Amino acid sequence: MSGHPAVGVWSAPGRVNLIGEHTDYNEGFVFPCAIDRRTVVALADRADRAIRVGTACRDEHVELSLDALAPNSVSGWAAYPLGVVWALGELGADLSRVRGVDLFITSDVPIGAGLSSSAALECAVALALTEHWQLGFDRPALAQAGRLAENVVVGAPTGIMDQSASLLGDTDAAVFLDCRNLHADIVPLNLRAAGLSLLVIDTRVEHTHTTNGYAARREACDAGALALGVTSLRDIRVSDLPRAQKMLDDKTFRRVRHVVTENERVLATVRTLREQGPGAIGPLLDASHLSMRNDFEISVPELDLAVETAQAHGAIGARMTGGGFGGAAVALLINDLVPIVTRATETAFAQRGFHTPVIFTVVPSRGAQRER
Ligand code: GLA
Repeated sequence: MSGHPAVGVWSAPGRVNLIGEHTDYNEGFVFPCAIDRRTVVALADRADRAIRVGTACRDEHVELSLDALAPNSVSGWAAYPLGVVWALGELGADLSRVRGVDLFITSDVPIGAGLSSSAALECAVALALTEHWQLGFDRPALAQAGRLAENVVVGAPTGIMDQSASLLGDTDAAVFLDCRNLHADIVPLNLRAAGLSLLVIDTRVEHTHTTNGYAARREACDAGALALGVTSLRDIRVSDLPRAQKMLDDKTFRRVRHVVTENERVLATVRTLREQGPGAIGPLLDASHLSMRNDFEISVPELDLAVETAQAHGAIGARMTGGGFGGAAVALLINDLVPIVTRATETAFAQRGFHTPVIFTVVPSRGAQRER
């Protein structure tokens, strides 16, 4: 990009959430895994104080001085990597003593599919910079930096799940994260031994979390917590729901009920997985989808069709995954069913006149790492 040789290469994966949707910003539980689709950042040293970012996806680069970094000084795709540099400074890094860098980015995480291509980019850059500049941040702090960049610089009011999955994920495992204290347990999934696959069905219905739907759900959760007298919905139990129903309007109540029951489903999923293995978690995935469709109202007809088709053709469980309003569904199924569910879903989408979905398996994989 600038002729400077790369001094190192780092990568970070996208993620698929197995269960625990819209619980992260309510201080609840999530259970995502990192996937085998990664964003790769090559870093070259500079003699001056410029940060220059380029990507294989676009014939352009963006350059900014470290002294000019501010939330509103960048926009578009460069807000993710440059936002992370700003966020590292906000979290205490002394950026006055570092030299600039060139960052060149490539990725095979599909964009807009609900697989957190943005978190993959943020986390690859965050890990590259903390190691190159020797800033000393641990992985939970890097996740915070990614989230801060996304919230303040990009302007999407998202939680901490995606960055945590990208930084903490591991092979054939998922990250059981308590978003209140950020305690993370890496739980083996044992999909390989069980002969199971995770099938992602990208509906190609575009979504973005910088616009209304996602923020409106956050606001409903905050309003529900306020009305119930708790700091976050994490503090509401399933047994509190009858009382909550009397205190809240119907829509707010259903938003609250999704979050409260979803937290329970995450705990039940982890417990079931540990006691009975991955083949037994299907009903919890199915119930999560119904809760998002009926109570949280973040599904779309394409996601419902993907889930129903997978279920009708023998999937162990299926649900939409990620923030909703488009993006992808995920199905857990035995390996032999992958081509059958794929064909059936393509046919069902064609019959309804929907866009042809993009369907592929993902493998739970290692989190962010240095490649060389
Ligand atoms: C998006 C956000 C996450 C989380 C999910 C919904 O992926 O980035 O923080 O809120 O939606 O579970």
